[in-house]
Amino acid sequence: MQSITLKRPDDWHIHLRDDTYLARTVGDAARYFGRVLVMPNLVPPVTSVELAAAYRDRILKHAPSGFSPLIALYLTDETSKDMVAAAAATPFTPAFKLYPAGATTNSAFGISAIEEMFPIFEAMQEQDVILSVHGEVTDQEVDIFDREAVFIDTILSRISTTFPALRIILEHITTREAVEFVQDASAKVAATITAHHLLYNRNDMLAGGMKPVHYCLPVLKRNVHQTALISAATSGDSSFFIGTDSAPHPRHAKENACGCAAGCYTAHAALELYTEVFEAEGQLDRLEAFTSEFGADFYQLPRNEDSIELIRQDWQVASALTFGNDELVPTRGGDVVRWQVRTGDRPPLSDGAI
Ligand code: DOR
Ligand code: ZN
Repeated sequence: MQSITLKRPDDWHIHLRDDTYLARTVGDAARYFGRVLVMPNLVPPVTSVELAAAYRDRILKHAPSGFSPLIALYLTDETSKDMVAAAAATPFTPAFKLYPAGATTNSAFGISAIEEMFPIFEAMQEQDVILSVHGEVTDQEVDIFDREAVFIDTILSRISTTFPALRIILEHITTREAVEFVQDASAKVAATITAHHLLYNRNDMLAGGMKPVHYCLPVLKRNVHQTALISAATSGDSSFFIGTDSAPHPRHAKENACGCAAGCYTAHAALELYTEVFEAEGQLDRLEAFTSEFGADFYQLPRNEDSIELIRQDWQVASALTFGNDELVPTRGGDVVRWQVRTGDRPPLSDGAI
């Protein structure tokens, strides 16, 4: 049987939600991730170090020892230079997350006028706090499939040239334009790539009928973009690293006649899904750097020292998982995943199948 050993991976972009949902999300992520960067789009959002500390404590109640949640703070029009200094002085808040107002789930508190934030970006640059970016314009006139490329052209390029020493992460990239932007930018600019954007394109979501399980933002694009993402992730370029954007929603919010919540839940099988992609490309020897090295290096944190083992053995994902008092449909629900993680000294995933 084939097996691979990797330094313990980290997840540099995840949504754990709160309260009754934490048992599911933290239980799944903590099976093998060492550090996770938790996104702050709760209601109300996590905007300060104090709120982040309280959220982190709630997360840790569900976590085994050795699991380390870091929290991105939510950038709002109210973010001050003092709040940037406080984040810089706190080890578990390495970044602020920029959501353009209205771009995605719980982004109503996000930024409406980017120029107004330039003094804050200046402070972040000075204090070396990372700017994590949801890269989509929200203009209703712009086609949803073009919103990332337009954001890069009109907003991101301006931020990165105005603040050349600011570390920026373009999160969950979905287009060839994003890949090229990051390749051409300085080493201060990086990108996370999700497993679902590597595995699927918009045909998977739309052809033969809309599949809510695949609906996320930025939305899946056409296959040429998927191919560009796969090449970037498996290229060995240290500017591209893991960030699952695992973003659970209860089934009733996704399979709803009046709309579909954006987000794909992959935390139950994230590493296993990335491994499929690297295997299909014949690049398994580059998996460890993508999952366990480049992200830690960009965040200027030590790489994890212990390791985990993956074995090549099919398993069937439950068609639904318990999610607080709800249920959720995970990515690949009911289907086979080709790799399994041996969790070593971490508690095994309770099957949670319903
Ligand atoms: O699909 C998404 N879901 N994209 C985001 O940016 C947010 C996330 C969520 O929180 O559900
Ligand atoms: Zn996200």
